[in-house]
Amino acid sequence: MLDIKTEIAKLIEGPIAAVDGVDVDEDAILAALEIPTDTANGDYAFPCFRLAKGMRTAPQQIAESFAGKIGSALPVGGMIERVQNAGAYINFYLNKDVFCRAVVSDVLAKSEAYGSSTIGEGKTVLVEYSSPNIAKPFHIGHIRSTVIGGSLANIMEFLGYRVKRLNHLGDYGTQFGKLIVAYRRFGSREDVEAAPIETLLKYYTEFHEKAKADPSLDDEARAAFAALERGDAEELALWEWFREESLKEFTDVYDMLGIRFDSYAGESFYSDKMQRVLDELDAKGLLLESDGAQIVDMDEWEMGKALITKSDGSTLYITRDIAAAIYRKEHYDFYKNIYVVASQQDLHFRQWIKIVELMGYSWASDCIHVPFGLVHLESGKMSTREGNVVFLADVLGEAVEKTEEIIREKGVLTEDERETAEMIGIGAVIFQELHNNRRKDYVFSWDKVLSFEGETGPYVQYSYARASSILSKAGEADVCAAAELYTSSNTGGGSGYFTGENAFGLAKLIAGFPETVAAAAEKFEPSIVTRHAVDIAQAFSAYYHDEQILVDDRSERIAKLGLVISARHAVKNALTLLGVRTPEKM
Ligand code: ARG
Repeated sequence: MLDIKTEIAKLIEGPIAAVDGVDVDEDAILAALEIPTDTANGDYAFPCFRLAKGMRTAPQQIAESFAGKIGSALPVGGMIERVQNAGAYINFYLNKDVFCRAVVSDVLAKSEAYGSSTIGEGKTVLVEYSSPNIAKPFHIGHIRSTVIGGSLANIMEFLGYRVKRLNHLGDYGTQFGKLIVAYRRFGSREDVEAAPIETLLKYYTEFHEKAKADPSLDDEARAAFAALERGDAEELALWEWFREESLKEFTDVYDMLGIRFDSYAGESFYSDKMQRVLDELDAKGLLLESDGAQIVDMDEWEMGKALITKSDGSTLYITRDIAAAIYRKEHYDFYKNIYVVASQQDLHFRQWIKIVELMGYSWASDCIHVPFGLVHLESGKMSTREGNVVFLADVLGEAVEKTEEIIREKGVLTEDERETAEMIGIGAVIFQELHNNRRKDYVFSWDKVLSFEGETGPYVQYSYARASSILSKAGEADVCAAAELYTSSNTGGGSGYFTGENAFGLAKLIAGFPETVAAAAEKFEPSIVTRHAVDIAQAFSAYYHDEQILVDDRSERIAKLGLVISARHAVKNALTLLGVRTPEKM
């Protein structure tokens, strides 16, 4: 990575080391370095307040004397052009041309890998996301976990971690007893096969209505679930079939979104791993009897009481999460075990992670709940039962259709363009989702998701396509020459063609991309990458509007192409991390 901060820290270290009684090391200097909001105050600034006490000198005076010393020792033609004191600050000004060239060299050396790192090497990170309940519709509320998790997995992988993508399907519980009974009583195989989730949902609702009048149905359902738990052939086969048919529908949506998983081991997978958890909880003295049920009392931590088994002995969601965590540790030996699950389940996660800790597992703190806010509808709360629901597949379909219409207005829609429309329409939906801070609730709006103006996916994709078209206009010979120029003769110095503010602004944003990726991973917040992608796209558009790139002078043209190639790589890498594809033409 281009490490200007360290270079500056070393410059500051010089005069500090020469003063007796002041103990400030490089790390402390690095931490104190600021990026001024107003570039008139330099590209970097170092505040001298903290040196004042040890030196018994006013910070303004220190800034003045240090700036003078550092400034007079600066090499000519280097990255740092000027050092100036202003108040208590030492301001550092970069040489635009030298800086831009260094950034381009750095990007070209890494290309597809630009922004990646090896920090995660040898460590396994599990990212669990999406995890829908089978036999329930996949609606717009599910998009958050799915794309936030998918993107975090990409980001962790880019940082060198060995990533496992897990889908903890909600495929177990008493509701499957109800489904089995409903299907036996009034179901049809053809209907299920034709529209699995819709049909199963209908059965489920119908079951509830009929059970109101005839409570014996509930007993029958309990018996069916007990049979399923025992592994009786008929019940097991039906359940497997429901699961498979539902999964087909989910997979269609995942394919559209470009989302994949390494494992679909859902709740049912842990059903035979439950006894061990119960035994262990009991042996460690954590279980309490309460009206025939078993609980862990968590009042001490203000987490209420966690219900571990019901009075009929059946286990619960939380028990399966405890079993899953233990299994994952033993099976994957994870470094971090990340759960991308709605903030509504905050208490659930706090409870079971605390229980795992109380069981004596030190790795409990490596289980991390990454919460996100709710999606509301303009028409109020989403409710499958009341039919107030927006299906994700419909949203994706409409977004693609709208894109196709826009293309058709300009002429016929070719096969290639059909694919482009898919990239743009679906990319728009994903991008919008990842543009929001994940903790915030938001209201789903068709208008907003289908608007391609402003800070949207299509806008960023367009800058990529624009860069691609500039490169193809320039031709292969020039593009190769640019790559050659920056990689073979990187002896520092400038190219002479990056003197404007726009080139500088763009190069700064490109240079900041690796830090952005690292920050997104640290905060589990893909929107940091999304916003940075918008910033780069805007800076790139300012650059090519302002400057002619394909000029007659070949050496100027080639030098500038380097910056275009770099912007294109940065945008591509950012979008790829978000799971948004990049059309070459738009
Ligand atoms: N299936 C659950 C739901 O739809 C989400 C599962 C979250 N993951 C977990 N390990 N508890 O609400």
